[in-house]
Amino acid sequence: FASSYPPYDPTDISGFSYETVVKRWPIILAGVVNFLHNKCHTLSLDLASLDGEEKVALQKKLTEGTGIIEKVSKLKYEMARDRALERIPEDGEANVELYNAELAGLEDSKRNTWFTAPWLFAECYLYRLLRAFFVLTEHWKSEDPFYEQKVNTFRQSGTSILHIATTMHELGSNRETVKADPEKLKVLFNEMIQMCLWGNATDLSLLTHLSQADIQHLQSVGKDAQVARQKFILKDDEEPVWKHIQTLKDGRVDFVLDNSGFELFTDLVFADFLVTYTPYVSKVVCHPKLIPWFVSDVTPPDFRDTFTALADPSFFPEDVTIAVESGMVNLKEMVSRWTSYLEQGVFSLSVPVDTPLGGNEASKPADFWTSSKPYWNMETEAPGAFETLRTSGLVIFKGDLNYRKLTGDVRWPAWTSFEEAIGPLAGKFPLLSLRTNKADVVVGVDKDVAEKLDASGEKWRVEGRYALVSFLPRSQS
Ligand code: F6P
Ligand code: MG
Repeated sequence: FASSYPPYDPTDISGFSYETVVKRWPIILAGVVNFLHNKCHTLSLDLASLDGEEKVALQKKLTEGTGIIEKVSKLKYEMARDRALERIPEDGEANVELYNAELAGLEDSKRNTWFTAPWLFAECYLYRLLRAFFVLTEHWKSEDPFYEQKVNTFRQSGTSILHIATTMHELGSNRETVKADPEKLKVLFNEMIQMCLWGNATDLSLLTHLSQADIQHLQSVGKDAQVARQKFILKDDEEPVWKHIQTLKDGRVDFVLDNSGFELFTDLVFADFLVTYTPYVSKVVCHPKLIPWFVSDVTPPDFRDTFTALADPSFFPEDVTIAVESGMVNLKEMVSRWTSYLEQGVFSLSVPVDTPLGGNEASKPADFWTSSKPYWNMETEAPGAFETLRTSGLVIFKGDLNYRKLTGDVRWPAWTSFEEAIGPLAGKFPLLSLRTNKADVVVGVDKDVAEKLDASGEKWRVEGRYALVSFLPRSQS
């Protein structure tokens, strides 16, 4: 399957893809260089106190660090000059051939430069290439250049996190009444799903233009904030999703995760709600990225460290503006419940198994999330990943990039149905996408609404203020 509409790419200088190549990627690459400089500087202070093998190893690490800095700087230089994308070097990790085959195809059609390549491909390629720079060293293999950024932003979400923990605690004291009251459950479900949706508004690759005040505003919770944001949800399938969830019995929900930090926290709260407060779900599986990805996406170490951070009272800055102590107690209670869920397998992280799950897929199922492939042909192109989701009671795709991959990141008219846009994947398993709009592609919106917004000059497709809740059930056949 392939759409007859062309992909978004930077040849359209009014699109967000153009702005991305011109402004956003250079900032992100400069951040990686900065990270490496700082790290090398700190490490070099230790040189004097070391000797023997340790000293030699550190010296090698510093040389390798300088090597990565040179590669990233060269990449940034070439990007600005619209040079060709180079092949991903054979680094022993996943998807090298996939990327290079796609690149060869683009070369044939002369779309293999930074300002001509399809946006979705080029952006995935960029993070995969960065990964190769690190993996091809001896001492930087496990380094995540975005790790500190993720942790620091998470720390700044303390106020919202403690608020939510307190809400969940209050809910806990009437757990049984809530469970038995369908009306109450539904109201809570709407709050939870919206919290999880807007949790996506704060990813770090967009933060190159959002202020701290903007972020806090996006994270604010509670009825009023949600009512105010309701009009920004341009497609709202909350009703049918809830109806669907009510048909599950001891069901499994899968989260194809997006960002670490506050968004992951809201995913876990939503997961906790489904398991603890509803009779419908008894297992939640989370699917992370196996390599640093789009700055803020969740990797397995991020997932693990989230639990440690939330359980540590000193993690948050002291000026969080809620009754800190009771908030902390509530948070602790919630996180210890999550930890026991992890231990019991109620919550789990889908990390690689060595044996490929059938089909002709040579790589691990999880590697699919860091390929550049749209999800249209998942069943044939990534049978391992497809098989893991096929039996799910509901697969929740979080965030913008997952949405771009679901719809192929092509120029669908905005009123195309979601079902048509996700191609052959439609109906294969119950599928929910929770996405705040951060890229041009949009489907499932009324024609007059889309046209009015396009004509208004408002950047409704890309600034993260609008959102889409899109659901499709499993087809009956
Ligand atoms: O457009 C902004 C952007 O960085 C896109 O490049 C990408 O699709 C998206 O945001 C990442 O957002 P999310 O974390 O929601 O997938
Ligand atoms: Mg992301």
